[in-house]
Amino acid sequence: MSDTTFSPGLAGVIAGETAIACVDQGKLLYRGYAIADLAENTTFEETAHLLLFGNLPNQADLDAFKKKLDSYRPLPKALVDTLRPIPKDVPMMDVLRTGVSMAGHFDPVKDPDALQERAVWLTAQIGGIIAARFRLLNDQEPIEPKAGLSHAAQVLYQAQGEEPDELSAKLLDLTLILYAEHDFNASTFTARVICSTMSDMVSAIVGGIGALKGPLHGGANEAAMEMLEQFKTADEAKAWIADALANKGKIMGFGHRVYKNGDHRATILERELRKLAKQKGQEQWMDIYDAIKDPMVNDKKIYPNVDYPCGLTYYILGLPLDLYTPLFVASRVTGWAAHFIEQAGDNRIYRPLSIYTGAKDTLVPAIENR
Ligand code: SDX
Repeated sequence: MSDTTFSPGLAGVIAGETAIACVDQGKLLYRGYAIADLAENTTFEETAHLLLFGNLPNQADLDAFKKKLDSYRPLPKALVDTLRPIPKDVPMMDVLRTGVSMAGHFDPVKDPDALQERAVWLTAQIGGIIAARFRLLNDQEPIEPKAGLSHAAQVLYQAQGEEPDELSAKLLDLTLILYAEHDFNASTFTARVICSTMSDMVSAIVGGIGALKGPLHGGANEAAMEMLEQFKTADEAKAWIADALANKGKIMGFGHRVYKNGDHRATILERELRKLAKQKGQEQWMDIYDAIKDPMVNDKKIYPNVDYPCGLTYYILGLPLDLYTPLFVASRVTGWAAHFIEQAGDNRIYRPLSIYTGAKDTLVPAIENR
């Protein structure tokens, strides 16, 4: 890169090294394990342990990890009281940003260097904050956590007041595995930049939430479902996408900076989504889903990313749109924290250059002459 050219959005620019994840010939690997293998053969807790501690847990490790998650789930009363007055029209992602910030004032992990412990505590708290807000939105009191549930089942239990059916818990768990980590995406890079100044993990996670909220990033799962929800039939969707593409519109849930031949996570989730739609008698949604997807893939060669099938999966599971990106956070907090720990272990503060395009040598006029 010369000092007169730059890459917009740092496209194609290598900003660091990581051993946590990579996209290798179109396949996503978490610490060397293929995402398809992890999706098929682990639970979110096992994948989270892999990201945070560097290894897949044996049964004893897993039991201890789940016990620790459970021990960190209860929310401080002051945190719940902070959520109560927040107006109902405030987006859940903004509430989550506040909730995590508030949780940070009650961080029980006293050792500032106990980063893995703090990551486990934050993972537990975030699930509870999402559920508590969901209850308050429905004029219901938050529910205390129930020991022994999976992380996915716990979030749904505390949100909906009853344990989810096996299929819902399994599908949510799958989305949490798929969402957990994706190397130097915008929100993870944000977390690493915050870590690089030697700031704290709570600040990095709050920064990650702010970055992930955007519809060009994690907010796309809600935006994609908002798009689909407007259609009653596949024909309506067909007409809409033709018009949108003719007007150069950005279609939420499609495209990716790294995957140019399709997001493997989307393929994995779409397969399960089709089964879910069939089991729930909601196959009409797949006709609408395909009506948007087919011209994007066949005509534009722009493929679905993980957010496209995820939005519809959560919708068919009966979850409100406002919960979708927060559920992405409930998973990605483990990736953000893993990158924080890696950055802290071999740190240099991020400080890129810029090309100045403003005025130079302008003299300050007296105020009466301005
Ligand atoms: C996530 O980075 C990650 O790893 C993110 C993520 C993770 O796990 O952390 O994978 C999660 O954020 C997935 C992406 C979710 N966002 C969306 O679905 C929003 C819609 N997608 C686009 O905004 C876009 O594809 C991005 C933001 C995802 C990627 O942006 P890029 O790499 O800057 O690509 P681009 O916008 O420069 O597009 C290149 C071309 C453009 O055509 P031209 O203007 O050059 O003619 O492809 C077109 C774009 O117009 N294009 C699209 C499109 N995506 C790209 N056209 C219509 N609809 C789209 N969705």
